Amino acid sequence: MMLHIGIIGTGGFSKMHVKILSEMEDVQIQAVCGTSKAKAEEFASAYSIPSSYERVSEMLDAEHLDAVYILVPPMSHGEFELQLIERGIPFFVEKPLGVNVEQPYQILTELRKKPLITSVGYHFRYTDTVSQMKQLLSQQHIGMITGNWMGNMPQVAWWRDQERSGGQFIEQSTHLVDILRFCVGEIDEVYALYGNQVMHKQFDGVTAADVGTVTLKFRSGVIANISNTCVLPDGLGKVGITCYTQEGMLEWDTERLKLIEAHATSEIKKMVNPYLVENEAFIHALKTGDTVHILSDYEDAFKTQQVTVAALKSAKSGLPVRMV
Ligand SMILES: NC(=O)c1ccc[n+]([C@@H]2O[C@H](COP(=O)([O-])OP(=O)(O)OC[C@H]3O[C@@H](n4cnc5c(N)ncnc54)[C@H](O)[C@@H]3O)[C@@H](O)[C@H]2O)c1
Repeated sequence: MMLHIGIIGTGGFSKMHVKILSEMEDVQIQAVCGTSKAKAEEFASAYSIPSSYERVSEMLDAEHLDAVYILVPPMSHGEFELQLIERGIPFFVEKPLGVNVEQPYQILTELRKKPLITSVGYHFRYTDTVSQMKQLLSQQHIGMITGNWMGNMPQVAWWRDQERSGGQFIEQSTHLVDILRFCVGEIDEVYALYGNQVMHKQFDGVTAADVGTVTLKFRSGVIANISNTCVLPDGLGKVGITCYTQEGMLEWDTERLKLIEAHATSEIKKMVNPYLVENEAFIHALKTGDTVHILSDYEDAFKTQQVTVAALKSAKSGLPVRMV
């Protein structure tokens, strides 16, 4: 059975997904839609995609697609998801679900009425080191957790704009919130402090905070703090999570998981490409109807979105926000 896939968006992450999908058997990338016909045509010709469009409705009218990948920036979500639900077409959507909770909630409400296979690009869930951390934490007594997403400012134009990206915590650190929800459970309370220290002096149009720290209280009582900044120069950065437990320390970063106990330290290196596993899980679900390998669907990802948006609300009000 050959699956026909449509792509919305012609940016950096469309290239990543298209490269993976184009190497899969039984998958045909049939059409691409961009913000202009020229961009869509250029992308289609670079990746040997038969059809290109500048309007999603035209693409959906003209093609018989088994699924669509929505690979657009945070501010461009909404209309695409709603059209796909109306037509009953499954979709993969990159994180974050949007810049707020209202629009994803509208999409979720439609999905609940008309369920579809969905998958959201929280790819770290598919990393072997994250599943090992989840497994280890389930056997340990967690005290507290800290996380960091420290880096530079991505140079795509929309990222620095609070209204278009949602800011660093909604756009990037959302991955850390999602990993912690996956490994530790639901979050009941959020308290955040954000600041604009440097980047607005260096670049025009920077309205997103460039430093922030967010305290999370989990239902289990565990307390975590995730801090982020985008002020660092190119090439410098630190992304990771440290769990402090009665048994020792678990240090996770994008390449490895380190276990530090009183008298021994060991290290597990990441062995899988999580983007590949994530795509395989979605394609498997489309082929068989079996969604068991999809680790983040729209319903679940919405909870991560609620936490990251609550952090923004807390940073604006100066008050803690309860999730329940
Ligand atoms: N999971 C991850 O590790 C990861 C990594 C990078 C990016 N992403 C996510 O992927 C998304 C896209 O990021 P990117 O780096 O590809 O951005 P990008 O700016 O390189 O590309 C975005 C694309 O979306 C297109 N687009 C925007 N509005 C559109 C519209 N209304 N109709 C059709 N096309 C539209 C733009 O033309 C552009 O081609 C972001 O949400 C980002 O957070 C995820």
